[in-house]
Amino acid sequence: MSALAASLLERIQSRRARTGVVGLGYVGLPLAVELAKAGFHATGIDLDERKIQAISEGRSYIPDVASADIAGLTKAGKLDATTDFGVVKDLDTINICVPTPLRKTKDPDMSYIVSAVESIAKHLHPGLLVVLESTTYPGTTEEVVQPLLEATGLKAGEDFFIAFSPERVDPGNPTFQTHNVPKVVGGLTPDCSRLAAALYGSAIETIVPVSSTRVAEMVKLLENTFRAVNIGLVNELALMCDRMNIDVWEVVDAAKTKPFGFMAFYPGPGLGGHCIPIDPFYLSWKAKQSGFDPRFIELAGHINGGMPHYVVDKVAEALNTKRKAINGSRILVMGVAYKRDIDDMRESPALDVMGLLHEKGAQIEYADPFVPEVHGREWSGRFDIRAVTAGRGSYAKYDCVVIVTDHKTTDYEALAAEADLIVDTRNAIKKPYPHVFRLGAPRPEVQGVVT
Ligand SMILES: NC(=O)c1ccc[n+]([C@@H]2O[C@H](COP(=O)([O-])OP(=O)(O)OC[C@H]3O[C@@H](n4cnc5c(N)ncnc54)[C@H](O)[C@@H]3O)[C@@H](O)[C@H]2O)c1
Repeated sequence: MSALAASLLERIQSRRARTGVVGLGYVGLPLAVELAKAGFHATGIDLDERKIQAISEGRSYIPDVASADIAGLTKAGKLDATTDFGVVKDLDTINICVPTPLRKTKDPDMSYIVSAVESIAKHLHPGLLVVLESTTYPGTTEEVVQPLLEATGLKAGEDFFIAFSPERVDPGNPTFQTHNVPKVVGGLTPDCSRLAAALYGSAIETIVPVSSTRVAEMVKLLENTFRAVNIGLVNELALMCDRMNIDVWEVVDAAKTKPFGFMAFYPGPGLGGHCIPIDPFYLSWKAKQSGFDPRFIELAGHINGGMPHYVVDKVAEALNTKRKAINGSRILVMGVAYKRDIDDMRESPALDVMGLLHEKGAQIEYADPFVPEVHGREWSGRFDIRAVTAGRGSYAKYDCVVIVTDHKTTDYEALAAEADLIVDTRNAIKKPYPHVFRLGAPRPEVQGVVT
């Protein structure tokens, strides 16, 4: 190990290293908190003034992070936050957790990574460890991060250190959070790997070293592609079951009793969130550049992307039984967050379902206790829409209620008892009812429920 690396290692092991995190969102804020809890001084950097303000006031804006933690750590002088990249000159380590969205063409949008790395480069100094955590295509650390930092004249692996370590946080998961999800780490050189592993090992229970940054980048894409493909498979099975009058939910529940060789995935209205609908396309974009055509990813994307259309077909089918059309019907969408019990609606299929129903002339309302407002730019309706309060006594006025996200806060028995017509895309209403149409399940009259 070089003398510079050994000195940084000693600072990390003694917790004297000053740590930094760029991008204080769902990934970056919990990481900064874990580093501070582990005994480091952690500085968060974000362009969003409101986040900096919240942290300095001891307030959390991420449901998985307690305000009491932020308040305690800021008061103890262990955590602070700024918009000024100038602080990098005093840091020993910096983790980059900025967004990696797709462009409309489904090409990677690397602008956030490039901008963050360029800002770091202005203050790069010998001995700094830079770790990229944003999900991205294999090769990013070496092909994008390294050259931008080496443009300063300093050399990666010698003067400064770089590594990739994918974030695996699962927002809303009460069991697995940043500190107890094993962390895969791949450095550019053995020194880089050792330093990054030492940093994470101070705050996270299990470290999984891999041989390179490319392997670490690919690990994350395998994990997310695995989910996208399996969800695509079960969504296709749901479409098949619909055609064959078989209940896909019953099939999956019975199949998962097999104690080996099967893992349950559930169908739904489409993919959502910042990861599963996006990350596989980072991989397919890069694979195509190597002349490889990744067929599973494209096929799963095709099936999953079609699910909101299927939901709308289901709504039309349900309304048809009442001699009604989507056009002019008053429709309540229950849940717009991309999954249960969280407030994140990025890429949520609910936005597509709402947009498609609106295009067909429905009067759309939505209810979601976690998302008070959907802005016009976020869905194709193009107007701001505020959540209505749904609950006992409020369902009868709708021609149809569509359950898109099954938050636990909803009383599904009350909903089933009062609503005239329901399309349930999550199997939230367990008992059969004549007016409940479930995704991937026989129509009520075929189930033996008399309409
Ligand atoms: N959210 C998840 O569940 C999750 C899980 C695993 C991995 N990831 C990956 O982690 C990365 C971050 O995701 P997220 O959900 O935390 O995003 P986020 O949008 O919640 O947070 C990103 C933050 O980065 C800030 N930012 C953007 N550009 C910046 C810049 N140039 N300098 C400083 N700050 C900047 C934004 O203001 C924002 O606060 C993505 O690559 C994502 O794919 C996310």
